[in-house]
Amino acid sequence: MKVLGLETSCDETGLAIYDGELNGGKGGVLAQVLYSQIELHATYGGVVPELASRDHIRKLVPLLDELLLKANINKSDIDAIAYTKGPGLIGALMTGALFGRTLAYALNVPAVGVHHMEGHLLAPMIENEGIAFPFVCLLVSGGHTMLVQADGIGQYRILGESIDDAVGECFDKAAKMLGLPYPGGPNVERLAKDGNPHAYELPRPMLGKGLDFSFSGMKTAVHNLIKDTKGSDSDFRIRADIAASFQHAVVDTLVKKCTKALKQTGLKTLVIAGGVSANQALRTTLESSVDAIGGVVHYAPPHLCTDNGAMIAYAGHARLSMGSMDDLSVACVPRWSMESLVI
Ligand code: KG4
Ligand code: ZN
Repeated sequence: MKVLGLETSCDETGLAIYDGELNGGKGGVLAQVLYSQIELHATYGGVVPELASRDHIRKLVPLLDELLLKANINKSDIDAIAYTKGPGLIGALMTGALFGRTLAYALNVPAVGVHHMEGHLLAPMIENEGIAFPFVCLLVSGGHTMLVQADGIGQYRILGESIDDAVGECFDKAAKMLGLPYPGGPNVERLAKDGNPHAYELPRPMLGKGLDFSFSGMKTAVHNLIKDTKGSDSDFRIRADIAASFQHAVVDTLVKKCTKALKQTGLKTLVIAGGVSANQALRTTLESSVDAIGGVVHYAPPHLCTDNGAMIAYAGHARLSMGSMDDLSVACVPRWSMESLVI
């Protein structure tokens, strides 16, 4: 089964074909294309929802043509379509959902609406056969910070989540305060490489309190630090030290919560997913801390960590293979709990 995946929940237009028959029936990504709207939103320092929707509409048709050419298949070879149904920006979601649902109707193939975070959670499995349920997943993106116990496709229990800002959002805001361009995560990581992670002590909020997170205090702490040191101005050394200290505090917090979640559930496998899981400092620190308690960490290659069409195609393929599909109506869900995804 060849599934076309469409991701349009925010500022990336991602399309991919996941083919269940590739690699001797193990499945694989036949082709993928991605258009990032970063430049479009860069001048505003963040995503402008209406501009995002309009750009998805402009890009979907030419990107589909490019994808089919890359995959060397015709539209009639598509067996099913998966689109991101939520959570995300409602206008942006509607563009992909309407495009996908309409195309599925025209081709007379099934369509399935996918939860964006389920796409992220399953993405590390696309190229890694070694990941098996059950596992604990740290989901860290621009809009979400969650610890989820994943027992199977659609079987997710939220162990903890952020009570305020998401960790990616916190990276983006810290970047902005440091005068770095959007999206902030990769730029903070780059700057942090030249800094001392122990130069400044930043708070590690809610460490003692279960598995929930809070990042708004960290943002305020960075703001105050920049004000006190005049770090947003020209001194590269100070800015690099702030970036490194901030990243160290975030990573430290995430690592402590992850090891706590593994101990609490008794599980040995940790999967990290979502845009922030591309962060190298997070990956290496988690690897050594989880290894120390006898566990193992899995993550996807960077291009499958941030938003992409392959994760939606893969999650759609998994759900369709279990008999899940949507009817003809198109209903996007801007806020949607992962715990309601049972097939
Ligand atoms: O998963 P994603 O592409 O989109 C959402 O679903 O939100 O995540 C985007 C977020 C942004 O906040 C971005 O700054 C962050 O992931 N990010 C990173 C890195 N790469 C992307 N944060 C820290 N380090 C990175 N290398
Ligand atoms: Zn995402």
